[in-house]
Amino acid sequence: MQTKKIYIETYGCQMNFSDSEIVAAVVKEAGHSLCESPKLADVIFVNTCSIRENAELRVRNRIQEFKSLKKKNPDLIIGILGCMAERLKTQLLEEEQFVDIIAGPDAYRDIPHLIGNVESGIKGVNVLLSHEETYSDLNPVRLGSNGVSAFISIMRGCQNFCTYCVVPYTRGKERSRDMLSIVNEATSLFNNGYREITLLGQNVNSYNWQQYTFADLIKAVAQINPLLRVRFATSHPKDMSDALIHTIAALPNICKSVHLPVQSGSTAILNRMHRKYTREAYLERIQTIRKHIPEASITTDIITGFCGETEEDHQTTLSLMETVSFDYAFMFKYSQRPGTQAAKLYADDIPEEVKAKRLQEIIDLQNKLSLKSNRNDIGKIFEVLAEGPSKRSQDYFSGRNSQNKMVIFPARNTKPGDYVNVKVTHCTSASLKGEQCEV
Ligand code: SAH
Ligand code: SF4
Ligand code: F3S
Repeated sequence: MQTKKIYIETYGCQMNFSDSEIVAAVVKEAGHSLCESPKLADVIFVNTCSIRENAELRVRNRIQEFKSLKKKNPDLIIGILGCMAERLKTQLLEEEQFVDIIAGPDAYRDIPHLIGNVESGIKGVNVLLSHEETYSDLNPVRLGSNGVSAFISIMRGCQNFCTYCVVPYTRGKERSRDMLSIVNEATSLFNNGYREITLLGQNVNSYNWQQYTFADLIKAVAQINPLLRVRFATSHPKDMSDALIHTIAALPNICKSVHLPVQSGSTAILNRMHRKYTREAYLERIQTIRKHIPEASITTDIITGFCGETEEDHQTTLSLMETVSFDYAFMFKYSQRPGTQAAKLYADDIPEEVKAKRLQEIIDLQNKLSLKSNRNDIGKIFEVLAEGPSKRSQDYFSGRNSQNKMVIFPARNTKPGDYVNVKVTHCTSASLKGEQCEV
């Protein structure tokens, strides 16, 4: 086997970025090396996302750019990994004829073999989904890491089948990873200087390994060392248990930041989305979180313009946003995905301009709420985990507080991984700025 220089480019969610670290581990173990630029590569892997049509279009355009590299270097191998590979399978080979490898999210151990196939003139395709694969024995190569924070995937797949969502089809059945392997990975990251770990899954609250729940797991990780911060994403409102809320409240190094996607404020729409909670049940979870963890930041995801969404439904979403006063939100126009339940059952009947108008109203409101939340922090002192020099100036450092807000402060012999107390003096809707201080 000839060793190759491999370039990996990643799109999509944190799980996909975490998966690219697994792919890097697999190819390195097989004797290949990684490189930083597609121009230097013998193999280009694009780890892709299918969540919205736009995500796929971006990848398609990027593949066209790689095609021109292949024209100059016919030996260049191009592989499509991840959710688009799984969704489109061999159809992608027909549509993008210079693509050599298609590997779905559960097929990454097979990549060295697929590269071998291409060398012998056969296109390499593996899109088998697994009920067991968690890659738990692999030691991910931390790509693009700042040496302070790292992701750990704790489960794979999703079987909630929200009607709009492609993930259950691209990632297969939900399965939880061995808890001991997670705690070992976190311990070794801590011993290597990492200070923040994000536990990842499409629905971390339903983690279940042997008799252990997510509350047990997060506690075990937090107990590794009080200097290790623990975050997690994403939670599903229907599974946000009291036990988990109490665990977050009890352990100081579990970050006080809950990402709880609501999707819509209207119970009728939530039903049609198959989210399995009502507006009232969502608001009840928020109240419980606020009662036990008053300092918690709460962030969300919202889809606007879902099938049959009336102006009244839309107003109900705006009013829920005001009621909760989210600290931050990711907001999207509904994008119909082929093969999903929504595509089969409902018409994508909200005109593009109405979707755009509603999205803008949601964004405008959220900007106001984010600014209000940040203004509320002026005068407060936060413990900030320093990540690195700020983008704008070497004299400043940036890091995050427990609430996951970005904080900018003047560097004073500050090193990445230091905990620094910062008193907030200024803010925008996107970040806080302050001075280092003693407590
Ligand atoms: N598992 C997570 C997030 C999955 S994808 C969860 O359930 O919360 C991230 C976000 O993308 C979703 O929360 C949703 O807001 C958005 N999304 C998913 N499918 C979409 C679609 N078809 N159109 C628009 N937004 C979508
Ligand atoms: Fe998609 Fe719903 Fe699963 Fe999240 S919980 S990944 S939105 S099906
Ligand atoms: Fe995209 Fe797949 Fe993640 S569809 S959001 S990369 S699970």
